[in-house]
Amino acid sequence: MSTQTPTQVHEAVKTRYAAIATAFEPDTQATCCDDGGACCADDLYAADLTTLPDSVTGLSLGCGDPITLAELQPGQRVLDLGSGGGIDCFLAAERVGEHGYVIGVDMTEAMLERANANKARLGVNHVEFRHGHIEALPVDADSIDVIISNCVINLSPDKAAVFKEAYRVLTPGGKVAVSDMVTQGKFTEQQRNDMGSWADCVSGAEDVADMVGWMRDAGFADISVRDKHAPDIELADSIALPGAPARLFSARITACKPGLSG
Ligand SMILES: C[S@@+](CC[C@H](N)C(=O)[O-])C[C@H]1O[C@@H](n2cnc3c(N)ncnc32)[C@H](O)[C@@H]1O
Repeated sequence: MSTQTPTQVHEAVKTRYAAIATAFEPDTQATCCDDGGACCADDLYAADLTTLPDSVTGLSLGCGDPITLAELQPGQRVLDLGSGGGIDCFLAAERVGEHGYVIGVDMTEAMLERANANKARLGVNHVEFRHGHIEALPVDADSIDVIISNCVINLSPDKAAVFKEAYRVLTPGGKVAVSDMVTQGKFTEQQRNDMGSWADCVSGAEDVADMVGWMRDAGFADISVRDKHAPDIELADSIALPGAPARLFSARITACKPGLSG
């Protein structure tokens, strides 16, 4: 547990990402961590990114490829939790087409300004960026087919609330396809209170068993958590050795909201 309040965590994270968005120059590659970090990496995506300008790809701050994980179909309504400069929203928009719709939610105004500037540059009308917290989504209940997210839920001070909200806004049968930093084992309280490390997408990451527990409590079914570097091994029911140091990794997380028939 961190002894920081949720508001303090939000402010620390917002300060970091506002600074990144403000300082960003389109011919550079932004990073969320000073040392290159465990999360940020080149070549995250299977997709061809040449359709997107540097102002989008250079502000990519994810840790995986939720677009490939989501297997999006034309016409779907997609929600991106923590949309940043918009890269996953624009990739999703290409896949769902003009009969689909994509909403990105982010709490950092400077990121939303970047995302909206990118939207204008690309001329896409079926993408919308909304200001808000992922723990209290500005999105109607039962209105979304697929939720994506890329390296954001680890930054939340209340992951249980994030999954409750995700469940609320998904339509029955809807699915979650998330790339995020998680751990096997837990960070110490001292590590959790390091807000620099938290904003680096490190010490806010939670143990797989806790993440799966919050997802189950929210109502999700068919929960899967896999290390993106060892995708054949299912970790959703794995339990860390008590007292073992936290092993941090980028995970592929999927789940669904049961349909009306079950
Ligand atoms: C590491 S960046 C990832 C951005 C984007 N998903 C990508 O792949 O480039 C995290 C983003 O999540 C946003 N964020 C972090 N915590 C949030 C929260 N609790 N509610 C809404 N947005 C949040 C930040 O403002 C930032 O834009």
